[in-house]
Amino acid sequence: MTTEQTTPQANEPAAEHLAERPGPPTPAEPTPVELRGVEKRYGEGERAVTALRGVSLRFVRGTMTAVMGPSGSGKSTLLHCAAGMERPTRGSVLVDGVALGDLSEDALTVLRRERIGFVFQSFNLVSALTAAQNVELPLRLAGRRARPGEVVAALERFGLGGRAGHRPSELSGGQQQRVALARAVITRPAVLFADEPTGALDTHTSRGVLRLLRELVDVHEQTIVMVTHDPAAAAYADRVVLLADGLPVSELPGSDGAEAIAARMAGLEESTAGTAGPYPASGSAVEGRGAVRP
Ligand SMILES: Nc1ncnc2c1ncn2[C@@H]1O[C@H](COP(=O)(O)OP(=O)(O)OP(=O)(O)O)[C@@H](O)[C@H]1O
Ligand SMILES: [Mg+2]
Repeated sequence: MTTEQTTPQANEPAAEHLAERPGPPTPAEPTPVELRGVEKRYGEGERAVTALRGVSLRFVRGTMTAVMGPSGSGKSTLLHCAAGMERPTRGSVLVDGVALGDLSEDALTVLRRERIGFVFQSFNLVSALTAAQNVELPLRLAGRRARPGEVVAALERFGLGGRAGHRPSELSGGQQQRVALARAVITRPAVLFADEPTGALDTHTSRGVLRLLRELVDVHEQTIVMVTHDPAAAAYADRVVLLADGLPVSELPGSDGAEAIAARMAGLEESTAGTAGPYPASGSAVEGRGAVRP
């Protein structure tokens, strides 16, 4: 269970074998990602915006967490900080027990490349590259060459087998989103952050993508943290964390189902509309293992 300290894609056992492995991680295993009292403030003076107000959360191995909350509540900021793309103003982020704040920019880049995948809310595809070249990019950046057929197989998993040679401008929004997903998972990152990964997809395609993500968690024990506005998507997660005004304010298991999640969201939006927010002042609101199995 401790073998993923190195590249997770190396010597990967067959899926059937992995599926039979005992489930719960051992207590000694480091947490893939942990946020401790993370605050993030943008700007200075009167224009300063506090996007996160002291968030403490743990994301354990082999679990999927959905992060929900009103627009502007800090969901993307939370993901960017947790993935080491932005530095918190206060508090710390630990990846496998290593505090990112202690790492040099170079060490941080290497860790991100080897451990973390990211699907951006705005896709961030390279416009001059084809779909296949975009998907291959993280491998090349890591100094690896794709195995024959690897890139096409990744595109096919997301229903894009016929689009390998197309550039982003020649693809629909939903197709671009799926290229971004294929690109993020091709290195089999230990942790995948996905910012509204189904936001541009129709219901059917969305369900297909969510089933694939679920498989990464259940079969390959990857850890996924996904922002979504869709209660049906959140129901695929083990754990749903609700964010309001920069703090986790509520949590429920995804197995409660889309209706319960939608009701909790509606309650949250009602209680926060037009107010400064009746949230706890400290960041200890939600903490936990979150591995609630359906
Ligand atoms: N680079 C930035 N500079 C200044 N303010 C920012 C920056 N990024 C985010 N913010 C502010 O931080 C707050 C949280 O933004 P964030 O993008 O995390 O929200 P979100 O929950 O992802 O919203 P949405 O659902 O609309 O994507 C917002 O008030 C936003 O205006
Ligand atoms: Mg966002």
